[in-house]
Amino acid sequence: ADVDGVPAKFATLGLTYDDVLLLPGESDMTPEDIDTSSLVSRNVRVNVPLLSAAMDKVTEARMAIAMARQGGVGVLHRNLSIEDQARQVDQVKRSESGMVADPITIRPDATLEEADALCGRFRISGVPVTDGAGKLLGIVTNRDMAFELDRSRQVRDVMTPMPLVTGKVGISRDEAMELLRRHKIEKLPLVDPAGTLKGLITVKDFVKAEQYPLASKDSEGRLLVGAAVGVAGDAYDRAQALIEAGADFVVVDTAHGHSRLVGDMVAKIKSNFPRVDVVGGNIATRDGAKSLIDAGADGVKVGVGPGSICTTRVVAGIGVPQVTAIYDAALAAKEAGVPVIGDGGLQYSGDIAKAIVAGADTVMLGSLLAGCEESPGELLFINGKQFKSYRGMGSLAAMQTRGGGKSYSKDRYFQEGVSGDDKLIPEGVEGQVAYRGPVSAVVHQLIGGLKQSMFYIGGRTVPQMKENGRFVRITSAGLKESHPHDIQMTTEAPNYTRR
Ligand code: XMP
Repeated sequence: ADVDGVPAKFATLGLTYDDVLLLPGESDMTPEDIDTSSLVSRNVRVNVPLLSAAMDKVTEARMAIAMARQGGVGVLHRNLSIEDQARQVDQVKRSESGMVADPITIRPDATLEEADALCGRFRISGVPVTDGAGKLLGIVTNRDMAFELDRSRQVRDVMTPMPLVTGKVGISRDEAMELLRRHKIEKLPLVDPAGTLKGLITVKDFVKAEQYPLASKDSEGRLLVGAAVGVAGDAYDRAQALIEAGADFVVVDTAHGHSRLVGDMVAKIKSNFPRVDVVGGNIATRDGAKSLIDAGADGVKVGVGPGSICTTRVVAGIGVPQVTAIYDAALAAKEAGVPVIGDGGLQYSGDIAKAIVAGADTVMLGSLLAGCEESPGELLFINGKQFKSYRGMGSLAAMQTRGGGKSYSKDRYFQEGVSGDDKLIPEGVEGQVAYRGPVSAVVHQLIGGLKQSMFYIGGRTVPQMKENGRFVRITSAGLKESHPHDIQMTTEAPNYTRR
């Protein structure tokens, strides 16, 4: 039907972050009263409403660990083999818990050089030494190895051999802490009555629990992690492997979530693993959200084309400006009690607040996190400045198989059947973003900005903010006024760069 004389085909006006501002509202709280916790999906709660994007230049295990420690969560990308992705899930789940269930070990005949390499790779300071059957023989730590000049010596010659201070499987947190303290040791191996190594408790884990009070954790005290899957080929096997490795939720992650294949995959995973949350995406309309919810999704991810590296809107002419997309999708999601993730297009902390007021429960970030120390890839130095590379999962580089590589990213764009790289239709670009330092500093600024916004709006919690927030639409003059103007900036602010 026509709306105010405008043919229905053109009736919707799409707005995005730069088209709106939030109205200041009555507020009777201080920023300390604020609670930023929110739901990623029906059963996955985080303490800060931020997800790192499932992209190969953003989220691998290191980023996922950093995000979960800060109170958010990472979604491991899927442009790698099933085994590698499952191993990363495992790495996150093992990184920080009351106990490491399956600790890294070393053989007594390994050299110190090998021990160094192992400790470096897993960022650990010591390793239990076991025989082929898993029996604990001793422990070798940095302290044992530090003064040994001959790196070809064997671990058995420098390790602290049994008898060691050990704990029984099932030891309580307090008992373990007491043993560590009494014996002034940093690692407590757990053994069964036969002397087989069954776990490891470290002082570091206790310290971290105090260091990261907001960390997102599961019921066993392990960090939360999500992982992406697709719809083509062995996508279901991938989901199964990720869930078995301990993923707290899986994301059926495609560029067009309003397609039968995506709904079918959501339904299939959900029916076989009813206890794991399944998020579907991406969609940008109310009907798209409804189709995923009808298929059984526990969360919907919104965003078609807003991403900083996306070209879908120009290549295919498809998309919905992100504030409108979130608002429309949330109409369906709210009815069903399903949380919404606003994915892509965020440039500043204020955009997180705008996404929430539009109807999102959490947001997913790519470019804002790609420049962090914990993102995959090396630091690049160009003209004395530091950068990290970033690329769309639909970019030619991420989809092509040239040089013997294998791409698992093509099916995100439903191009898994395209055989030659020169036949691919890219929907993203590749480039670099400025280096931003550690995730902790970036998240501190983003959440600091969000809290200010909650204070201005008068929303103590994320749901209250959604309820109380109101937008004003602005013009390009308004946008110009919003950014710093009539000044030549001489010092970079930690939360503002002109883009
Ligand atoms: P930002 O703006 O945070 O966006 O960098 C990250 C999100 O962008 C999506 N994404 C893509 N979209 N072509 C697209 O159309 C691509 O190549 C591409 N790669 C990632 C994705 O949803 C991500 O979370």
